[in-house]
Amino acid sequence: METTKFILNEKEMPTRWYNILPDLPEPLPPPLHPGTKKPVTPDDMKPLFPMALIMQEFSPDRYVEIPEEVQEVYRLWRPTGLHRAYRLEKALDTPARIFYKYEGSSPAGSHKPNTAIAQAYYNKKEGIKRLVTETGAGQWGSALALGCKLFGMELKVYMVKVSFNQKPYRRLMMETWGAKCVASPSMDTKAGQGALAADPNSPGSLGLAISEAIEDTVTHENTRYSLGSVLNHVLMHQTVIGQEAMKQMEMAGFYPDIIVGCVGGGSNFAGIAMPFVKDKISGKKRNTRIIAVEPQACPSLTKGVCAYDFGDNVGMTPLLMMYTLGHTFMPPPVHAGGLRYHGMAPIISHLYKLGLIEARAEFQKPVFEAGVTFARTEGILPAPESNHAIKVVIDEALACKQSGQKKTILFNLSGHGHFDLGAYEEYLSGKLADYEYPAEKVKEALSALPQVPA
Ligand SMILES: Cc1ncc(COP(=O)(O)O)c(C=O)c1O
Repeated sequence: METTKFILNEKEMPTRWYNILPDLPEPLPPPLHPGTKKPVTPDDMKPLFPMALIMQEFSPDRYVEIPEEVQEVYRLWRPTGLHRAYRLEKALDTPARIFYKYEGSSPAGSHKPNTAIAQAYYNKKEGIKRLVTETGAGQWGSALALGCKLFGMELKVYMVKVSFNQKPYRRLMMETWGAKCVASPSMDTKAGQGALAADPNSPGSLGLAISEAIEDTVTHENTRYSLGSVLNHVLMHQTVIGQEAMKQMEMAGFYPDIIVGCVGGGSNFAGIAMPFVKDKISGKKRNTRIIAVEPQACPSLTKGVCAYDFGDNVGMTPLLMMYTLGHTFMPPPVHAGGLRYHGMAPIISHLYKLGLIEARAEFQKPVFEAGVTFARTEGILPAPESNHAIKVVIDEALACKQSGQKKTILFNLSGHGHFDLGAYEEYLSGKLADYEYPAEKVKEALSALPQVPA
């Protein structure tokens, strides 16, 4: 009998997060203060984050212990399963072996609780009472709503308007866990009011919702901001995925030739990939191909520039060295709301620049076609974001069919799509449209990049 699921017991769950910073072949360019354009100090970040997370952001330690209280919550759903996609392999008639790590089994339905739980814990420990955040597709907002509920904290979520309208049940999920959720742009902040004055029908964007959340944070007592992707500490929290996957691939008896993940801000991709990037950097496994997949409508890695830019629309965050389409860029309303972000995590940008990872951009129609193929073979109905990874996995598996190579492919199935059935309905009824790469809008946004002295 062939094994389909590789399951770790709770005692085998990682007890440390992996921090890639000390292993990078070249140091990461530091974030810059938006006013002075000098490297930010931990003190600069104090109004936004608790000290423990700020220290993790700059940590030189290769491993950081996961607090017992966080491990206890992780055990509600971790370790997650690693599955061999036999049925997909058969349907594609490929000699490739396809494995996926399923993060949709968390209570919130994605990988996002891996960092949400940790962030809620550290804020609580430092006496913070209220958190504020933004959410695209609603996955991050619901993950943090869960984290805040479990650690007894208040939460306000600015949800990108296009997703707020597409996914009312995500909002209800957040409210069930006790969070307050408003559509962004909102009238609750100056940033939101400005965006609505400029365009009353603005679909919103992650960059704009971040501006609203930061403004809310700094204008309220005992409140901190929480980000679901992009920052070093967020990516580090996600490495429980890759560390588990590495053990499970050992159980399966294979080391992946190709690793695939979708990228919005870069956290689930980093989570599965970074422990394997470590092997690539050390020379233990030099030839692993690691592929980040983004939407054609918002292709920061494949069509952006690597430059210092703001993380938000209005220009309140530190300047991050990253692949960006320009912080004023408003991506078209594709269904993968979690991938509608103008920038990319500095760590992922750095790995891409150094040639340690590859990137691909995909249109949403073939992406949904791939997701439906997956649902019809493996059963799980994936999140639209995760479908981007599946598209590339299928392409690589078909390339193996052509070449006859028996490669091992591992991908991160970052979430389920049970709240995304409106998007599936559009696809199944033939109404789903592709958005061309908005070249003119990107050109315009790139001309507004902040000037940084060399
Ligand atoms: C299921 C899922 N996958 C992927 C992403 C993209 O985010 P990241 O690149 O940080 O993993 C999101 C973001 O909301 C998501 O909900």
